[in-house]
Amino acid sequence: MRAHEAGALHADINNQGPAWLRAPADVNALVPALWPRSVTRGADGAVAVAGLSVRDIAAEFGTPVYVLDEADLRSRCRDFRAAFPTEDVFYAGKAFLCRAVVRMIAEEGLHLDVCTGGELATALSAGMPPERIGFHGNNKSVAELGRALDAGVGRIIVDSFTEIDRLTALARERGVRPRVLVRVTVGVEAHTHEFIATAHEDQKFGFSLAGGAAANAAFKILDEGVLELRGLHSHIGSQIFDASGFEVSARRVLALQAQIRDARGVELPELDLGGGFGIAYTTQDDPATPQDLAKRLRKIVDSECAAENLAVPHLSIEPGRAIVGPAVFTLYEVGTVKDLDGLRTYVSVDGGMSDNIRTALYDASYSATLASRASTAQPLLARVVGKHCESGDIVVKDEFLPADVQPGDLVAVPGTGAYCRSMASNYNHVPRPPVVAVRDGQARLIVRRETEDDLLALDVG
Ligand SMILES: Cc1ncc(COP(=O)(O)O)c(C=O)c1O
Repeated sequence: MRAHEAGALHADINNQGPAWLRAPADVNALVPALWPRSVTRGADGAVAVAGLSVRDIAAEFGTPVYVLDEADLRSRCRDFRAAFPTEDVFYAGKAFLCRAVVRMIAEEGLHLDVCTGGELATALSAGMPPERIGFHGNNKSVAELGRALDAGVGRIIVDSFTEIDRLTALARERGVRPRVLVRVTVGVEAHTHEFIATAHEDQKFGFSLAGGAAANAAFKILDEGVLELRGLHSHIGSQIFDASGFEVSARRVLALQAQIRDARGVELPELDLGGGFGIAYTTQDDPATPQDLAKRLRKIVDSECAAENLAVPHLSIEPGRAIVGPAVFTLYEVGTVKDLDGLRTYVSVDGGMSDNIRTALYDASYSATLASRASTAQPLLARVVGKHCESGDIVVKDEFLPADVQPGDLVAVPGTGAYCRSMASNYNHVPRPPVVAVRDGQARLIVRRETEDDLLALDVG
């Protein structure tokens, strides 16, 4: 969608919805691939998660609220662990991080990636074993690197020559030998939105493979001998469905591995292929299972290693979205319904771009359902929008909701576990929603709702 300052261009009106979106035979039906695994529609017609009605959740915690199906999140961790039993699975904490989730992923045997001091502090305060933490970021400060060393994080993914120098100095001061991976920009553009594709060459992350910087970074670390170079790292983008991008990336990064062996006589023992595995936001998305992914990634790595005559390195991956994304839905209350004389129906909810920026930022597609009741009305193509002063404040661009949707109804948007609460803002001084974990019919607050007092507490002028 092209936008101007006031949001979508007014001439760009398409009130038919995208070609893939069809009016459902049953507007109350929940498409299982889009929802956390314990979500059902109860006998009263309301959506329930782990046996608990969304009406009860809204009554207790208010709206908007992010609802996490704890068993779903844990089962996705287990699926990845089972699919990658001899590899390491690092949950990418940037997708969503809070202490309860750190404990869940730690209990399920995953490792954890952080990329700022704040994420590191959250991980450590929840008891994540530091040796299972990886530290990412293209501009880690000296203070952040020092904290990571003092905490004893398991690996640091270095991203620039400046960082190598900083880390080397800090390691010398402390007399430690941190384990590092070199983040390589492999020149693969994943088939996804430009702003979340992170491995074409003109971007801020990593060392360029084509330009020789990645090889020079590895040589520098090996020659200086202060840091322990464990391997290479590549992350090619997000919301990827096509494994061919990983194939090209593995081929290129393993060619670099062979180059390093030939030049320095060292075979690096580890390889990280990053995250970016796609999930289903709408019925047009058909993600691979972790088992499929594991099979494909292993095949790719095995054949590239055979071609380069390399021992197969210890593999790690970094899924974020694929673990937490489908485990959460956002529950909103409808405030107004505006029918623009057949042009479009706008359903305004009590949140918006402050709790889900992805639609405005990435032109992301979501789906939605009327959650507080079932309806016998006909499906109506609607646009779910927020309450912010911005016409680009869209949550769900196009979805069929029952034609009798009305103020006071609850609407649920699935697939909001990743990059929604973690990217939430206070735009228009709207306090950020809470996160509630539901398990066995019990709801537990894991991140409380922000209050206006919280906002005013920061305003010390
Ligand atoms: C280095 C790295 N690893 C992993 C991820 C996680 O990606 P996703 O949540 O799409 O799996 C990201 C996301 O930006 C990333 O930059």
